Amino acid sequence: MDNKHLSSFYKLLAIAYLLLLFAQAVKAAKADRGRGEWQLLQNNTGVVAMHMALTYKNTVIMFDQTDSGPSRYLLRRRFNGTRCEGTRNDLEDSSCYAHSVEYDVLRNKIRPLDVGSDTWCSSGSMLSNGTLIETGGFGAGSRRIRYFSPCRNGHCDWKQGKKLLSHERWYASNLRLPEKDDRIIVVGGRDVFSYEFVPKTLSRENSFNLPFLHKTYDKNQGRNNLYPILHLSSDGNIFIFANRDSILLNYKRNKVVKTYPRIPGKGSRSYPSTGSSVILPLHHTNGFKKVEVMICGGAAYGAYSAAKQGRFLKGLSSCGRMVITGNSHKWKMEKMPESRLMNDMIILPTGHILIINGVKNGCAGWELASNPSLRPYLYKPKKPLGKRFSILKSTKIARMYHSSAVLLPDGRVLVGGSNPNNKYTFKNVAHPTELRLQAFVPAHMGREFDHIRPKNVSIYTSKNDEVVAYGEEFEVKFLMEKENKEKLRNEVIFTAYATPFNTHSISMNQRMIILKCKNIVRNEDGWFNALLEAPPSAKVAPSGYYMLSVVNNGIPSGAQWVRFVYA
Ligand SMILES: *[C@@H]1O[C@H](CO)[C@@H](O)[C@H](O)[C@H]1NC(C)=O
Ligand SMILES: *[C@@H]1O[C@H](CO)[C@@H](O)[C@H](O)[C@H]1NC(C)=O
Ligand SMILES: *[C@@H]1O[C@H](CO)[C@@H](O)[C@H](O)[C@H]1NC(C)=O
Ligand SMILES: *[C@@H]1O[C@H](CO)[C@@H](O)[C@H](O)[C@H]1NC(C)=O
Repeated sequence: MDNKHLSSFYKLLAIAYLLLLFAQAVKAAKADRGRGEWQLLQNNTGVVAMHMALTYKNTVIMFDQTDSGPSRYLLRRRFNGTRCEGTRNDLEDSSCYAHSVEYDVLRNKIRPLDVGSDTWCSSGSMLSNGTLIETGGFGAGSRRIRYFSPCRNGHCDWKQGKKLLSHERWYASNLRLPEKDDRIIVVGGRDVFSYEFVPKTLSRENSFNLPFLHKTYDKNQGRNNLYPILHLSSDGNIFIFANRDSILLNYKRNKVVKTYPRIPGKGSRSYPSTGSSVILPLHHTNGFKKVEVMICGGAAYGAYSAAKQGRFLKGLSSCGRMVITGNSHKWKMEKMPESRLMNDMIILPTGHILIINGVKNGCAGWELASNPSLRPYLYKPKKPLGKRFSILKSTKIARMYHSSAVLLPDGRVLVGGSNPNNKYTFKNVAHPTELRLQAFVPAHMGREFDHIRPKNVSIYTSKNDEVVAYGEEFEVKFLMEKENKEKLRNEVIFTAYATPFNTHSISMNQRMIILKCKNIVRNEDGWFNALLEAPPSAKVAPSGYYMLSVVNNGIPSGAQWVRFVYA
């Protein structure tokens, strides 16, 4: 070829190459749709979101430990009223800083709170009136019981209860009991092999031994039985999982009524190995009788001792599912796309599971992990095995030890925290303290689905104030552009979500109920009226506030609060 031909050849080649790049970009953009979006909400929450809980007032309570020294939320006045003058002493004084904040979801604003005592690695539950109860922690906080009754006027704050826990509980777990008198159970804690109730029913009631916590205790590997996984079964018993083993506890008789098979595979799932767990949505079609637990991720056996020597072993990539009701129990194992631990599992309004946050290597603790897991996964429980996982859009922000995630009423997932360091540290560490607050926006919230999305949802009950008694009927009204009446009954589902308390990858009390719809009609004015039935009992859905969503063909509405109560 002469020079002229050669140059036009190169031109063609360049054009072909550009076309190829363009085609790839289009393909990538298409693939990207359907993988969700990330929003940066705040650059500085001031306080590490080690613990998070959404309240029915659409605020999120976040808190850290109080003994981590200065946070990044400097107060003008201490909570006891004395001024923080900005002197050197004050700047080093932990009491001149907030260690808890309230995040207002609608206004995207942060306000400091006085958490009062050290909440380091503590646990919590929402009570039936929407008050957050919070138990244990470290040092002087380790036997404390705290309450936060949410408000919208910016005037509510933490209150310390007068009574104390029977034991110091650091790294314990909480569960709401299916009882009218609003009790919780607090299980375990560091080197504490018992459970107790709050409040106590008998004045001299103490704690109850739980030998299971001894059996699952692995002293040489950082214990591996902390923050035990608790789920309320719909028979009223409590499923307890620690390390690799699980039992069903009849808490009323202090009796283990079932011992389940050990989850297959090596490694461990509880702190500091820290996998995560949900119960899959309970469904009205089986009378809420089938309860299936799912556990994902965790650390390799020996991860703790290896990490102490600076070697970060690859975490577990397996999940196990087991039906805990009925008579035959077998773990069914499946693989996540990658290894993962310190992951959070959030039930989305669709009934799918979001797996978010965490790392690929090491275990929980300060500077004991590497390789952050930046890509969330979506898990669809009803799809055939092998087709259940998809990989969602990457974040750029590592969410490692002491990070958290909670579902918001509008359908986004709030993601905060991460601090694998002893104090607030921003320099000269592999993974600095993280104070940015993000929301993950699932793909089903995309505008392209608005034509089939149920909207303008409102709830009508005989009691007003969105209060419904167990088993009672109530009405849900919503708008939808869809016309096809025939298929409607099957395609529209109504999900009710109990808001959890999230810390250390455990969403305590998280559960979803798929409600029975007795009738659904489309009025001439375009509104739909659905007649729903509240859950039959507190064993299915402990009393309190739930987020109700209408889901059409996998596309959810925003949630409305509904409160299930005793008649
Ligand atoms: C966070 O900081 C970046 C960089 O300074 C800025 O561009 C962005 O607007 C900030 N975002 C928020 C939510 O404050
Ligand atoms: C307020 O708190 C500071 C720091 O803990 C303490 O030094 C001071 O004595 C307290 N003042 C009052 C009036 O309680
Ligand atoms: C809710 O219940 C808790 C615990 O019994 C109580 O401390 C709190 O004051 C109650 N809150 C409201 C707003 O009634
Ligand atoms: C539905 O809700 C939107 C926004 O919340 C509101 O602007 C609109 O007026 C509502 N539609 C009807 C028919 O009530």
